[in-house]
Amino acid sequence: MSNIGTYEERLKSFDWSIAEKELDYKSGDKINIGWFLSDRNCQKGLAKKLALIHEDHEGKVRKYTFDDMRTITNAMAVFLQKLGIKPGERVCIFMDRAPELYFSFQGILKMGGVAQPLFSAFGDESLFTRLDNAKTAAIFTQKKHVAKVRKILNTLPELRHIIIVDADETTTLRDREIAYNMEKEPRVESFEVFPSTAETPSVLHYTSGTTGQPKGAQHVHYSLISQYLTAKWVLDLQPDDIYWCNADPGWVTGTSYGIIGPWANGITQVVLDAGFSAERWYKTIEKHKITVWYSAPTAIRLLMREGTEVVKKHDLSCLRHLCSVGEPLNPEAVIWSQEAFGKMFHDTFWQTETGCIVITNVPGMPIKPGSMGKPFPGITAAVLDLKTYEPITKAGTVGLIALKPGWPSMMRTYWNNPTVYQSKFKNGWYVCGDRASIDADGYYWFVGRDDDVINTGGHLVGPFEIESALLEHPAVAESAAVGKPDQVNMEVVKAFVALKPGFQPGDDLELEIMNFIRKKLSPLAMPQEIEFVKSLPKTRSGKIMRRVLRAQEWGEPIGDISTLEND
Ligand code: WT7
Repeated sequence: MSNIGTYEERLKSFDWSIAEKELDYKSGDKINIGWFLSDRNCQKGLAKKLALIHEDHEGKVRKYTFDDMRTITNAMAVFLQKLGIKPGERVCIFMDRAPELYFSFQGILKMGGVAQPLFSAFGDESLFTRLDNAKTAAIFTQKKHVAKVRKILNTLPELRHIIIVDADETTTLRDREIAYNMEKEPRVESFEVFPSTAETPSVLHYTSGTTGQPKGAQHVHYSLISQYLTAKWVLDLQPDDIYWCNADPGWVTGTSYGIIGPWANGITQVVLDAGFSAERWYKTIEKHKITVWYSAPTAIRLLMREGTEVVKKHDLSCLRHLCSVGEPLNPEAVIWSQEAFGKMFHDTFWQTETGCIVITNVPGMPIKPGSMGKPFPGITAAVLDLKTYEPITKAGTVGLIALKPGWPSMMRTYWNNPTVYQSKFKNGWYVCGDRASIDADGYYWFVGRDDDVINTGGHLVGPFEIESALLEHPAVAESAAVGKPDQVNMEVVKAFVALKPGFQPGDDLELEIMNFIRKKLSPLAMPQEIEFVKSLPKTRSGKIMRRVLRAQEWGEPIGDISTLEND
């Protein structure tokens, strides 16, 4: 029997207080996510249960119980306090998926800090933008990534401490750097956890939009309520499960469902700190007897490409429940997963801003391959008319996905950017920035983004960051970045560049520009191709019309171009 029971029954009687009661929380109580993930589980008799099974790229496995996690995260919280980090200050985590990432996240929360996880593949400029915006006080990192921090340090006066978690005798520590060895550091048996309440800031996740720099979606400790219950009802986590989330905590899936949701439920998690390989992934499932798997369409398509032969070489009968997030899950992938694993992937839709799954196929709900499912109980969703922002009642009509604000894990603002936060609301609805239609049975069908954001392999990339990097090159007069179709990643980045007078387009210049921006951007944001053009399509007011270029790449009709300047 699944945790949710039946969707229809839950809809009738739903209240978020179900989660509050299960977590013994009452309005006005203290609530600290860090405490809930380890201390509370230990108090509930799970001290000796495994919390984390960690495997690194060389295959070395390390295991930690809930009590290990409790005393290690206490030690990390004490360490931060001794450094002089104050509650409310932002502490960045910039490292690969080492155990230190998972534990420092909780240590930061326990001492009242705001955790700011950033994807370790970010280049120095991507890193700088986010540390500068958040006025980050300290950063946890590793030797292999510290060069990027050193490079931008002079322009980050607020960054007081660079904590290197794998420094050894051979590491020469430089300005503001300090070593912290989690395994050698004495564990701390008891720690007075910061008395955060529901609205105390907890996590800051950066996400990209069409215009301007990435924005920090600000979450609070009360988000736990939604993350706990959606992990329980959608991922269907049950006491004996061994759970595997493919996402890196640099992205929201990796924190909401790679740290908070599963551990709030007292579940054992596997973390594989290694890149993609079908063989390795199946081995991991078989070896650790993974039962619940949360993955993403790009990964599933990569697995599909390797075929079912390699699946058959492994005993994957342990798998009980499969979910996917991040991009449209194409029907072929759902059908293939049924063939390959005897189970369908359940699509889940949500965003950095929503903090938890909002539209989804819950266990037991008949799956219509290609549909995202229905709103999670407690989430009021609709698709709105593109012009009036009124909910559309006619089945099959495309509109904007919108949610009624008020669920626990909704972002509370964009860091230092209340104006953009406000602009996300229309007619009392939070507008997600995606288009979909709802069929006669209430199932949601994703259509596409409503803005110029590029979704490559489940990662949102804002055109602005790429264009800004391009514009720094002396030959570039103007540029536009759009998504072009890709079989595996759904889209990849393509850049259009108009050159300044005196520069000639050509392969040499393309390579030179590519090398120039490579150092600044994350590999995900790197264009696969640069096309040199004489000029870019613009509106009369001078805004670049990326959608015209995008439509061209996708072979789609260009739509209304009446505002186009140079047609
Ligand atoms: C955007 C949010 C939420 C965790 C990962 C991404 C797209 C997300 C789906 C889905 C089609 C999806 C949307 C959304 N997206 N899930 N199941 N089907 N598209 O978080 O980086 O904030 O991205 O990802 O465009 O708005 P994010």
